[in-house]
Amino acid sequence: MATEHWRSRIGFILAAAGSAIGLGTVWRLPYVAGTEGGGAFFLIFLVLLLTLGSALLLTEFVLGRHTQEGAIRAYKSVAPKGQWQLIGILGMVSAFLLLSFYSVVGGWIIAFLVRSLGGQVTSPPDGDYTALFAAITSNPWEVGAAHLAFMVMTILVVQQGIRKGIEKASVYMMPALFILFAVLVVRSLTLDGAWEGVVFFLQPDLSAISGSTLLEALGQAFFSLSLGVSVMVTYSSYLGKSENLPRSAWSVILLTILIAFMAGLVIFPGVFAFDLQPDEGPELIFTVLPAVFGELAFGEMFFLLFMILMLFATLTSAFSLVEIVVAPLIRGKEKKNRVKMTWIVGLLIFAMGIPSNLSFGLLADWTVFGDIFFNQIDYLVSNILLPTGALLISLFVSWKMRKVDLREELLRGSQRGPMFFNIWLFTVRYIVPIAIVVVFISLI
Ligand code: PHE
Repeated sequence: MATEHWRSRIGFILAAAGSAIGLGTVWRLPYVAGTEGGGAFFLIFLVLLLTLGSALLLTEFVLGRHTQEGAIRAYKSVAPKGQWQLIGILGMVSAFLLLSFYSVVGGWIIAFLVRSLGGQVTSPPDGDYTALFAAITSNPWEVGAAHLAFMVMTILVVQQGIRKGIEKASVYMMPALFILFAVLVVRSLTLDGAWEGVVFFLQPDLSAISGSTLLEALGQAFFSLSLGVSVMVTYSSYLGKSENLPRSAWSVILLTILIAFMAGLVIFPGVFAFDLQPDEGPELIFTVLPAVFGELAFGEMFFLLFMILMLFATLTSAFSLVEIVVAPLIRGKEKKNRVKMTWIVGLLIFAMGIPSNLSFGLLADWTVFGDIFFNQIDYLVSNILLPTGALLISLFVSWKMRKVDLREELLRGSQRGPMFFNIWLFTVRYIVPIAIVVVFISLI
């Protein structure tokens, strides 16, 4: 049984939305949309988020709240026979690996933030933004220290536990994130020529939709909602029995969509207003945005705001990734072991991230199966481990849990009826697994 619970409903929602909203939504979504045809991609992403994504989010909520247990025990307590806890262990390994490269980008954010405080980002020597990005990310001391700083910040919060750590930090960071974003949306939309970017982002060109768009969008939808790693199982295990799960899931999804919209509305108008390329790739926000802000009055300050916002978004996701690994390891001895175990796990994740970090500098020439280490770990986690986890969780919950329990968890405190339950169950039993398998087959 979970010993701690969220202080309030809103605290849970902000923490869960904090996990969901992160680099995936603010950094990855815009650059993938930029390379996959803009509006069409975004539209499919939204549809998948609202259908399969929301069904799977509810699935993780149902399992976590029903068992009141974290990644390993949740599976064991539903099905004591068999090795089902392997799904949870897979989630812990995935979270560990995910955060190892995720925290590298967290480090870049801190490095850019510090440089920006010194006024150096929006007006680099020779106006060469790509060179600045390369100079920062290839300097092992600078990004190494920043990477470590990012992990230490994460550890300092998670070691305080659910209420005093994760919930408290999220309750401050998430509203700040929305406010900063709103300021930047206004700035971006009032640029001359902003409209072209809005059109690129929001007007779907349906002819641009191909098989690969669909696949990318499905992966992106799961990634954006933190699904497949048992993070949402863990967070909902700290939830009281009276909570209305569909309503909480809706809140998390709507907040994620809101931020996804805002991220697009900040980035694409800027890109088009200054004739830059939307299909730049992972460097998009680190090379294009400084260029955009460099043209504006108070540009360095706006860039700094953007980095602070990114830092909050990234940290609140990192909390959840550390928590899911730590929670099962300290079960039953939370008071005694939380601090120690959080440091051990956090520092191990940092160590695992070092080769990813050096992929942009010292180890740039070292390739594993034909690509730098960072990209391979990202690929392994995002395209293989996460969808596998999502597949197993959807099958496990929908087939292994008793139907009465499922119905009870899903509908308690909610106005929704049997129809809602049946649609959900059908989606998780059949549609989600089939969609994931189709994605896999097409990857091969
Ligand atoms: N949802 C986070 C993001 O969009 C990433 C994440 C995935 C976090 C899985 C936790 C678990 O950045």
